[in-house]
Amino acid sequence: MMEAKLLTQHYDKPQYKTLKGYLELDGYQMLKKALKMRPQEIIDEVKASGLRGRGGAGFPTGVKWGFLPNNGEPRYLLCNADEGEPGTFKDRLMMERAPHQLIEGMIISAFAVQSAKSYIYVRGEYNQSYDTLEKAIREAYEAGYLGKNILGSGFDHDLDIYRGAGAYICGEETGMISSLEGLKGQPKLKPPFPAIQGYLRKPTIVNNVETLAAVIPILRDGAAGYRKYGTEKSAGTKLFSVSGDVVKPGTYEVPLGYPLMDLINKECGGLRPGRRLKAVIPGGSSAPVLTAAECERATMDYENLAELKSMLGSGAVIVIDDSKCMVDLLHVILHFYHHESCGQCTPCREGTGWLEKISKGIIYGTAKLQDLDLLERVAENMKGRTICALSDAAALPTISFVQKFRDEFEYFIREGRSKVRGKIYAQMHH
Ligand SMILES: Cc1cc2nc3c(=O)[nH]c(=O)nc-3n(C[C@H](O)[C@H](O)[C@H](O)COP(=O)(O)O)c2cc1C
Ligand code: SF4
Repeated sequence: MMEAKLLTQHYDKPQYKTLKGYLELDGYQMLKKALKMRPQEIIDEVKASGLRGRGGAGFPTGVKWGFLPNNGEPRYLLCNADEGEPGTFKDRLMMERAPHQLIEGMIISAFAVQSAKSYIYVRGEYNQSYDTLEKAIREAYEAGYLGKNILGSGFDHDLDIYRGAGAYICGEETGMISSLEGLKGQPKLKPPFPAIQGYLRKPTIVNNVETLAAVIPILRDGAAGYRKYGTEKSAGTKLFSVSGDVVKPGTYEVPLGYPLMDLINKECGGLRPGRRLKAVIPGGSSAPVLTAAECERATMDYENLAELKSMLGSGAVIVIDDSKCMVDLLHVILHFYHHESCGQCTPCREGTGWLEKISKGIIYGTAKLQDLDLLERVAENMKGRTICALSDAAALPTISFVQKFRDEFEYFIREGRSKVRGKIYAQMHH
């Protein structure tokens, strides 16, 4: 296999966290290169690279940057480091092992979109990420990579960190902007999109941590070099956070298009001895689940997973072996989305609660077989009707779980106990 560590090559070296160590390993060289380019040239290169946003929706980054209006208004760059999708922990690794890489990627991106001010919106629970970044930002200011007249280029840029308070909905870009403005972190109807009217109603680019860091290898190797990795529609490499029933859970960088079973068996050491693969959620808890047979055909790229009617999402791969009960798992997922719904839209507020209640009824032995149809029908009615995608994030796994693992749901209702673990009352504390 082709070596594909474009971002994580030095992550095992503790000195990479410090400015000194980062500089020794060629850090801030691409910033120097970028500051000699025209901003539009950088945007064009990012566009040509085919880089798609790594936060979940996979929107082409260069195209998004191109949406900024030329109206002379100040522009903001917002780094989405909220990382709230259950199963996702790749951004945390980047912030803790390579804070300067994110900062360098952000300054280059800010220069490309001509923004004088950026924020990193860090998930509230990520204390270590926050401390590591804060220290690195201080170092970057002292060395002249941030502040006025960066490296004598005439470009000024200020970067601040903002800590979230631990709400999933603040990871949604318009929710994040509201939170940053000091308001309740509630999503807003789009359009207008943030690129037109975002933070303080000014043009704002919101990008994920990994997206902003990926600008560095793109400048280093050029768009064509970057495109050597991945597929036509899914260019480059991607970090996957693999959790669940594998021998070595963790974050792995592989080229997009990498076979899912290779990720599980070659990178993660496979399943535990004696266990069989039952299912995989390939893109965070909001992605439709794949059966073991579908996993054999799955490659980790946007188009193949869409063909399998699932999605790449944030790159959180949740591996499920035959010791797990799908009914329990869906209930945990639904509890999460009900708890995190901001309540603005009726289908989401009522629907997530309803779904959770039905799944709880199955686990506690009070559900009827018809409730399975109800589960699907409620979920179907929650799709595509709300301000943000949280409602879909609860509906899509529900439909896929019930359709693909119906036997486990029916068994639970009929027999009054889990097909897998036997007992009727789950030991779940909520
Ligand atoms: C409910 C919800 C939660 C989200 N949480 C995150 C998150 O934690 N991190 C993230 O980067 N994007 C998250 N997103 C996606 C963002 O709205 C946005 O698309 C992304 O930050 C854009 O950056 P990208 O183009 O670099 O991916 C979330 C979206 C929704 C609907
Ligand atoms: S879909 Fe749910 S989380 Fe999103 S805005 Fe509506 S109520 Fe809030």
